[in-house]
Amino acid sequence: MYSDKVMDHFTNPRNVGEIADADGVGEVGNSRCGDIMKIWIKVENDVITDIKFKTFGCGAAIATSSVITELAIGKTLTEAEEITNQAVASALEGLPPLKMHCSNLAADALKSAIEDYRKNTATTAS
Ligand code: FES
Repeated sequence: MYSDKVMDHFTNPRNVGEIADADGVGEVGNSRCGDIMKIWIKVENDVITDIKFKTFGCGAAIATSSVITELAIGKTLTEAEEITNQAVASALEGLPPLKMHCSNLAADALKSAIEDYRKNTATTAS
């Protein structure tokens, strides 16, 4: 039911952990399944230079968090914001329809971390 890519990211997730001095942190949860995902980012000159995640959730949620860290690193904030749940699912060579909402969680957590970064820098600038 899952692609090899999903199984690979689930059994060997990339960029797991926290960034103590992160520039932005995003946390989202899905009220239906109760899964929670948290993403930390480091940003330099508008580019995501480091990204880590912790996910309390299903295998697909872990795989989508892992793959979104690979998609986002090295991207500008604007490019990273444009990563859709469809792009996450394609990078995993597809997800079963019932598991598509898990990829929303990853895209939303990344957007939330970027928003947090923008809030932090707006406060610093004023
Ligand atoms: Fe909820 Fe996967 S079942 S994120």
